[in-house]
Parts: sequence; C-alpha cells; structure tokens
Amino acid sequence: NWTPGNIVEEQVAAIRAQVGDKRAICALSGGVDSAVAGALVQKAIGSQLTCVYVDHGLMRKGETEQVEKDFVAATGVQLRVVDASERFLGALAGVSDPEEKRKIIGREFIRVFEQAQLEILQEEGPEVAFLVQGTLYPDVVESGGGEGTANIKSHHNVGGLPDDIEFELVEPLRQLFKDEVRLVGSELGLPDEIVQRQPFPGPGLGIRIVGEITKERLDLLREADAIARQELTAAGLDTEIWQCPVVLLADVRSVGVQGDHRTYGHPIVLRPVSSEDAMTADWTRMPYDVLARISTRITNEVADVNRVVLDVTSKPPGTIEWE
Ligand code: XMP
Repeated sequence: NWTPGNIVEEQVAAIRAQVGDKRAICALSGGVDSAVAGALVQKAIGSQLTCVYVDHGLMRKGETEQVEKDFVAATGVQLRVVDASERFLGALAGVSDPEEKRKIIGREFIRVFEQAQLEILQEEGPEVAFLVQGTLYPDVVESGGGEGTANIKSHHNVGGLPDDIEFELVEPLRQLFKDEVRLVGSELGLPDEIVQRQPFPGPGLGIRIVGEITKERLDLLREADAIARQELTAAGLDTEIWQCPVVLLADVRSVGVQGDHRTYGHPIVLRPVSSEDAMTADWTRMPYDVLARISTRITNEVADVNRVVLDVTSKPPGTIEWE
C-alpha cells in the first residue's frame, strides 16, 4: 500500500544499496523536486552527500534564504552555496532576447555547478561518483526513458581530473508524481514553504523582465512579486492558482499621477493561470478585490511602477511565462 512513509523507507534502502560508502552531489534549485530528492538522499547516506546551491541572483524574495536556512535546518544537509549573482548579471548585461537569456543562464549555471563539482572532487577524492536528480515519473515517460539508471558523462575537463569521470545518477523520485513528491517531502519534515511551492522556471526572474536584466530591475520585480504572492496566499488562492508569474515590462513606460506628481513608470503584469500540467492553461478568474489589493500595494510600495495590468490570455495562444 502506498504511503509516504513506505516510499521513504523503500527509497532510503535503495539509495543505500546503490551508493554504498561512496559520495554523492546534489544540485538544489530551490524547487520542490530537487529539495525532496536531496532530503531523501540525505536521510539515506547523511554526510556522504554534499548539496550545491548556485545563487544566480534571479531568485524571488526569500528563496535563497529558504534553502540556506530552512532546508538545512530541516535536513541537516551539508550545503555549499555558490554566490554567482555578479557573474550571471555580467554575462546577461545588454541582453534582451529571451532565447539568448535562457542560453546564457543555462550555460553559466552548468559552468558554475561543474566548478563546484570539481572543487568537491578535489577536496573529497574521486570516489564522489553519484549525482542526485529530482527526475519525476512524468519526466521519465516524456523522455522515453526505460528502466535502470542512466550514466551521464560530465564534461568538466577543467583540469586536474581524469577526462572521463562518469557520475551515476541517483533518481529517488522516478516513480512519483508531483503531488506524491510533496507528500514525501512533508513526511521528511520539509517546511510547507518549500514543499507547496508553485512551479518556478529555472531561469528565474530573468525571463520575467521584458528587456535587459539589471540589478535594479530585479530588485523592483522581487518586491512586486513578493506582494502578489503574499496577497494570493492571504486570500487562500494558492491551490486554485497553478502559478502567477509577475512580469516587469522594463522597456515600457506610461504616464501616471501620484499625489500631485506626474509619474512616468513601468507596468507590472499579473499572469495568474489555472492548469493541470502547464501544457495548457486558462487565466484564473480572480476575485476583483484581491486584484485591487495587489494593484494598490504594488503601485504604492514599489518605486518606479505606476500601473498594474492583468493578462487574460489562455495557453495557447499565450505561454504561461512571457519569455
Ligand atoms: P510556458 O511559459 O512554456 O511554461 O507556458 C510552462 C511551464 O514551464 C515553466 N518553465 C520552465 N521551467 N525551466 C523550468 O524549469 C525553464 O526554463 C522554464 N520555462 C518555463 C513555467 O513556469 C510553466 O510552469
């Protein structure tokens, strides 16, 4: 019979059998899947696991702290945080094209993570042989993957290492759906703020700024996003809404008035969607009073934003994210 407790027990035994006395590395993204996978492996092999969290500076307000403090407190995991925000901002300077942004963020992420892997290997010896991944059952089916553990080649010929170190994958969530992963996460004692998180794209806020990404724009969007999330949670809408991207139209300005001042600021877009699987989505018919509260707070509290607009496009034709 399926219970979160049984799954934990079964996977802990399987992970121990697979990893033995070797070591494993897990990249935490701040998302549910990598957090639960990391927590499971931690429960199984404890200090043989090192988690790596790459802070690309594109996270939402409080998310990095959630990983650094709450996740570590709940699991006791050994965590390395790599603050790479300057590096990402530098690489993204002057770039507005969405695909270009995605490519740069993906590329820099791999480089930073591989550098961290290399350091761990140098410090802890080449017996670090396992890489933990939060692959879910739908991912397995989608990619046509069969049974067994894939071997991936890690291309980090940065020097000082054999060229062909192969990490074997540990994928303790391969048989689970998202809702089951959440139950397992709670069973492992992870806080709701992590376990109940809505989907958030890997490139983070970088693809929610239409236009060039700068530190100032990120700070502004982080504030607006935090307000929207607070109000949605307070209104009890977290389960009804699949996710609500908050988007900054950084290249657009419009005229407004605040007090007796004319303003010339940026619009913020709210994109609340309802969906089963993100393949299709409909815009969520949110209560007007909640929209009004979010709009009033954002325009009052976030400097340089003087307008809040609602995206009423379904997917298709619109995607959930704006970029
Ligand atoms: P779209 O915008 O294509 O998004 O309708 C569908 C779902 O995927 C998420 N998304 C991503 N998730 N890395 C991710 O991990 C990405 O690059 C990425 N792009 C979009 C999006 O938030 C939505 O849930």
